[in-house]
Amino acid sequence: MVEDYDPCEVEVDTEYIGHEIKCFDEVDSTNNVAKRMAEDGATEGTVVIAKTQSRGRGRRGKPWISPQGGIWMSIILRPEVHPSRAPLLTLVAGVAVARTLRDECGLDVGIKWPNDILIGDKKVCGILTEAHARFNTLEYVVVGVGIDTNVDISHFPDDLREGATSIKNELKRDIKSSELIARFLRNFEETYNSFKDGKMDEILTEWRKLSKTIGRRVEIRKQLGEIVHGDAVGINSEGALILELDDGTLRKVISGECIHR
Ligand code: BTN
Repeated sequence: MVEDYDPCEVEVDTEYIGHEIKCFDEVDSTNNVAKRMAEDGATEGTVVIAKTQSRGRGRRGKPWISPQGGIWMSIILRPEVHPSRAPLLTLVAGVAVARTLRDECGLDVGIKWPNDILIGDKKVCGILTEAHARFNTLEYVVVGVGIDTNVDISHFPDDLREGATSIKNELKRDIKSSELIARFLRNFEETYNSFKDGKMDEILTEWRKLSKTIGRRVEIRKQLGEIVHGDAVGINSEGALILELDDGTLRKVISGECIHR
């Protein structure tokens, strides 16, 4: 039986992240709900959590399977930074998830650029960051986090099953979702405060240590169908991946799907 946790019973010990939590049994997508709430003036740190999502969204327009047992949540942020800084919040959240799974579950996690949290070479968590700017001013950002916690991967469609895992699959037991969420919100507040305090370089240093992409041969599938091959040699201060191409030149990749070869 899948753990029936109540997202409203998460006991947060943060300064502001998660002080307002809106919880639901089912929504279309917590990112959609959070965006509507942000439009209506929800304060920074408001969190939306649902037990299931009927139309969970992944990056690049892909659906995100969200059965009961997983953690599906979105955080509303209003950082006073240039809109070009918003994608860095994916890395900020990735470091917070990795710290949480390592410290709470003792798992050896890594990050595949830009936003997949891996155990071994299998994905356990994805992050979808959506920003809304007006006249070059960032109005709000929604950071959506999906963690396959007490999820039975054998129910996933064939094409997803191979590359996915869950915490339950790894630990062979259920974990307490509400405690994991509380710990994540604390870790996220810490990394997000560093971001706002201009200490992104510290987060990037931690991200590089967690990276499973740097040092690998990769294929990047860009939005318009272009495919780039190269050796991943680092990420820069904007969070862009730096590739060394076969002719020895360096190329900066800002976005795209990354496949480890
Ligand atoms: C990805 O790796 O493609 C990103 C997946 C993000 C999934 C989360 S689940 C909570 C939030 N609501 C959504 O619809 N998507 C994000």
